[in-house]
Amino acid sequence: SAYDAGDHESYMRKEILEQPTTAQAVLRGRLDDRFGTAHLGGLDMDARDLRAVRRVKILGCGSAYYVGQMGAALIEELARIPADAEAASEFRYRDPVIEPDTLYVAVSQSGETIDTLLAVQEVRRKGGRCVGLVNVVGSAIARECDGGIYLHAGPEVAVASTKALTNMFLAFALLALQLGRVRDLSIADGKRLVAGLERLPAQIEEVLAIEDDLVEVAHSLAEAQSLFFIGRVRGFPVAREGAQKFKEISYRHAEAYQTSELKHGPLALIDPGVPTVALVPHDELTERNIGALHEIAARSGPLVVVTHEEVDLGGIDARRVVVPRNEPELDPILLTIPLQLLAYHAAQHLGHDIDKPRNLAKSVTVE
Ligand code: AGP
Repeated sequence: SAYDAGDHESYMRKEILEQPTTAQAVLRGRLDDRFGTAHLGGLDMDARDLRAVRRVKILGCGSAYYVGQMGAALIEELARIPADAEAASEFRYRDPVIEPDTLYVAVSQSGETIDTLLAVQEVRRKGGRCVGLVNVVGSAIARECDGGIYLHAGPEVAVASTKALTNMFLAFALLALQLGRVRDLSIADGKRLVAGLERLPAQIEEVLAIEDDLVEVAHSLAEAQSLFFIGRVRGFPVAREGAQKFKEISYRHAEAYQTSELKHGPLALIDPGVPTVALVPHDELTERNIGALHEIAARSGPLVVVTHEEVDLGGIDARRVVVPRNEPELDPILLTIPLQLLAYHAAQHLGHDIDKPRNLAKSVTVE
């Protein structure tokens, strides 16, 4: 059946490798290259409703929260609407102000995460509009929302989420595009992003093709008791997701940090036994990122740098992991894929049960 891991050693690896196909599924029928926009019928919002949105608040737990941060950046960049993500598990406990012109977005693979469901209910009880980015059709969160975007990633079995997260990112890109195109996002930019999204599934395939090069890197990371994942702006939620995935299945302590904040504290921990996985895309922050790598290298901290071909690390002693470039706004998802493989091969090396890590459930349905 479709639920069978088949020849794969685990569902997680199967689900990682499915991503070029599942990424196509979330985009199918939703891209408009003529007008450089997206069509999202399930949102149930017309151009007027979309234009009335003054702020976007994204709610999710764990990795869905981190992808929510990637989504907030996309929305703020493309639509120029203030957007942020918050852990759904904290939301209702601070008695949040619900604004009528804020669009609330609940993000969940399972659609059954109790903390996210209760956050949606809090929004709706106070009269707010909440849409869902949900994978499981007809799930509790999907039913509770005013409308939404189904992720079409297919069934995800491994506790560590991969393909559903990729589709969450793509759904956010579609939403950002649509919110942008009823505002100031130009048709040229809209078309540029539609073309970028159309290229992504093949580029995900390219990243998966470097798996063999990542195995040994993953094994060396697995030897460390503690490691850092660092990134800036678009790269920071990628670092958070990378650390999360690594922790969940390797049981190593992995901490995500903004690269810019290293010097304000955690640099004290860097030594030859504490590796850092750094996200260094080719963008306006490359030079500053490389400056931070020098600080780490000067303390003999082992470095793995996930980066683009164009980026020259100079004399820094680092393992380079090169991913293809897309449009800068869409790059975060291509930077995320190798981190899935690093976590997977570290856990495999340590002999852990990859699909069912200790202490964790696929969906957390009790508070
Ligand atoms: C992801 O690898 C985790 N297992 C976890 O953080 C998960 O993303 C979170 O519990 C949210 O689940 P959901 O998407 O089903 O709501």
